[in-house]
Amino acid sequence: MTTQDTQIQTPELVFPTGFVWGAATSAYQIEGAVAEDGRGVSIWDTFVRQPGRVVNGENADVAIDHYHRYRDDVRLMSELGLGAYRFSVSWPRVQPDGSGAINAKGLDFYDRLVDELLAHGIDPWVTLYHWDLPQALQDAGGWPSRETSKRFADYAAVVHAALGDRVRNFSTVNEPWCAAFLGYASGEHAPGLRDPAKAVSAAHHLLLAHGLAAQAIRAQRAETRIGGCVNLYAISPQTGSEADLDAARRIDGLQNRFFLDALLKGAYPADVLADLGQFTGFVQDGDLEIISAPLDMLLINYYSRFTVSGTPGGAASAAAAPTDSGSPWVGSEHVSFVGGGRPVTAMGWEIDDAGLLEILHRLAAEYPRIPLVISENGAAFDDVVGPDGVVHDRDRLDYIEAHLRTCHAAIEAGVPLEGYFAWSLMDNFEWAWGYGKRFGLVHVDYETQARVPKESALWYAGTIRRGGLGG
Ligand code: NOJ
Repeated sequence: MTTQDTQIQTPELVFPTGFVWGAATSAYQIEGAVAEDGRGVSIWDTFVRQPGRVVNGENADVAIDHYHRYRDDVRLMSELGLGAYRFSVSWPRVQPDGSGAINAKGLDFYDRLVDELLAHGIDPWVTLYHWDLPQALQDAGGWPSRETSKRFADYAAVVHAALGDRVRNFSTVNEPWCAAFLGYASGEHAPGLRDPAKAVSAAHHLLLAHGLAAQAIRAQRAETRIGGCVNLYAISPQTGSEADLDAARRIDGLQNRFFLDALLKGAYPADVLADLGQFTGFVQDGDLEIISAPLDMLLINYYSRFTVSGTPGGAASAAAAPTDSGSPWVGSEHVSFVGGGRPVTAMGWEIDDAGLLEILHRLAAEYPRIPLVISENGAAFDDVVGPDGVVHDRDRLDYIEAHLRTCHAAIEAGVPLEGYFAWSLMDNFEWAWGYGKRFGLVHVDYETQARVPKESALWYAGTIRRGGLGG
């Protein structure tokens, strides 16, 4: 690959020295090898086998075969000049039943991956949970059960003991909102339940799992940096009507403030608890102190804005997956997602880099002093492989550039933003949407497993090399 033309120009927008330039993936979405080397069964292995759950009945048994191709993939990352790579550890690969025996071969995979990354000068960022709960733990109650939080802390301690000498940056639970509300309320994600009470209980126990894991990790090594990871949306009311303003308050409450306030203020917002009504009886004394123990950074996954209406009869949820699903918006099922008229990605998600700026400023103002990292940002588009064998994905490039410009503006304004991870390094298994939605900087041919950097990847490589944008 060549980016010579851009290499010699001085960027118009220079990022601070030390800014982390990365890309992200997750275990179930890329690894494959689901029955190899002693890996246990996860809730996603079970879910994908149930009819109607995933578009075209696809699964991630093979995915993009990263388990066998990780060396090539790390070489690719190195060619792109990535400074950091965010990946997740598969709990059932390391601890097949979610408790008890550790699978040394599973742990060894991550050990080798970390060494390979370090050998290429790429900083490994580990996510401990990206949605692949061991099925045995789901059978014992899953995230609605308090026990699962304790099991997670034990597992986190095992992974940290094995990798913490070389991995400095750990995050606990990826997007607890999705794991709880898509998994247990709308049923769009594994385990596919539609039980609002269980979803709220799951949300709390995912946060408790984060807190207990952070405690376990801190007890092992003071230097490890620990982050919580939330998916935040910019939220707008459709109009200034009381009903629409209340709808925006509710969705912002359940999507954003429920998690941010618990993690960073040590209390669930009173209005959200009121919206959730009877579904909050499982919070025990001391839980919020555990959940809100000081963090080293907050990881933010940002994709889009929701425009909402509280007036009955609006459009259906913009976030709904193709399956016949319930509502993830426990206590706010009457809210409709109407859209704000912006261009959309292949997911139907509105493109709004201004929303990211809004969120970053809000975080800096309302939850001050915590370093921020964009742990995911990116877009699916209907990529076409050109006659030259390359995907000329100007739309993805524009999306990422716009959001990086926003990051730069936020940093200039004093927001403590330390890094950016594009989602995703490579095309992969997009959960209930299967392989049809491509988020990668790198194109993957699912027949041959060939990886070819898209135009966006080459552009990103040039941006990293120059340490900035434009000019
Ligand atoms: C967030 C999730 O963490 C990731 O797994 C998913 O693929 C992307 N968003 C895109 O939907």
